[in-house]
Amino acid sequence: MDQDTKKPITYGTRNLADEDLTQAVLATFENSSSERFQKVMQSLVRHLHAFVKDVELTEEEWFKGIDYLTRIGHITDDQRQEFVLLSDILGISMLVIDINNKQSPEATASTVFGPFFVEGSPRFANGDDIANGASGEPCFMHGHVLSIAGEPLPDARIEIWQADDNGFYDVQSQESSQVYGRGHLYADEAGNYSFWSVRPEAYPIPEDGPVGELLEAANRSPMRPAHVHFMIKVPGYKTLITHVFKEGDQYLDSDAVFGVRSSLITSFDRHEPGIAPDGKKMDVPFYTMHYDFFLMPIKE
Ligand code: BEZ
Ligand code: FE
Repeated sequence: MDQDTKKPITYGTRNLADEDLTQAVLATFENSSSERFQKVMQSLVRHLHAFVKDVELTEEEWFKGIDYLTRIGHITDDQRQEFVLLSDILGISMLVIDINNKQSPEATASTVFGPFFVEGSPRFANGDDIANGASGEPCFMHGHVLSIAGEPLPDARIEIWQADDNGFYDVQSQESSQVYGRGHLYADEAGNYSFWSVRPEAYPIPEDGPVGELLEAANRSPMRPAHVHFMIKVPGYKTLITHVFKEGDQYLDSDAVFGVRSSLITSFDRHEPGIAPDGKKMDVPFYTMHYDFFLMPIKE
């Protein structure tokens, strides 16, 4: 819009302080082109002003805050999203997920997406081994993809990604570009899925940037309990982004990103060498994990 055609300012911006200053800034959004934008911005201003007053922010702290956000911006690129990580450790990601996924209790709970998903993962067939060299003990993972009414959802697209037993995702390696512990496959006609991978282990979220500094300053643990990520897509159903967590993990009640839901915890059972559930003969001990996912239909 041309400067001259913008609506004139009808409120004062001079000699303002305290509540008058807050009210004047709020008024600048009264002519917004979208009602939602106006609501979000006015609420943000109200809360930010209240925060500054509440802590009586010093100028030094204000500069530090600006520098902090600047550094978060500088470390963020296509491979690394430090803003999302900040949102995760402040519990904002889970708050947004909870507000937007108030669904039937039968549906599988959603949790954080995290920074380690990669588009274009390799395709596998049901029953394949997606570990592809990931270090760790072999684990057979299987279950069903069902609607909340219990009907099988054939051809559900199941995306899986996980860290190896050293707590690293393939994309974190500086030396190698080998893809491991990730892939996608499709449920069969009866909604069954199965694949081999490795048993997940607990790991720390990336700590070498501004988010790590914040955790350190707060004496907070960076650890996440062992989990496997799943993203399940079925036409006509709400896409499910979730994890399955390992029962008994010591960090289940101190997850750095507040992502654990009791309903997402399941056992990873150890077995001596022998015949696995898919008939494969195992010469080494192995684990099995069984989990069924329930998806919500999209309302028309
Ligand atoms: C993850 O589980 O991959 C993750 C989620 C949030 C922050 C960091 C990592
Ligand atoms: Fe993860």
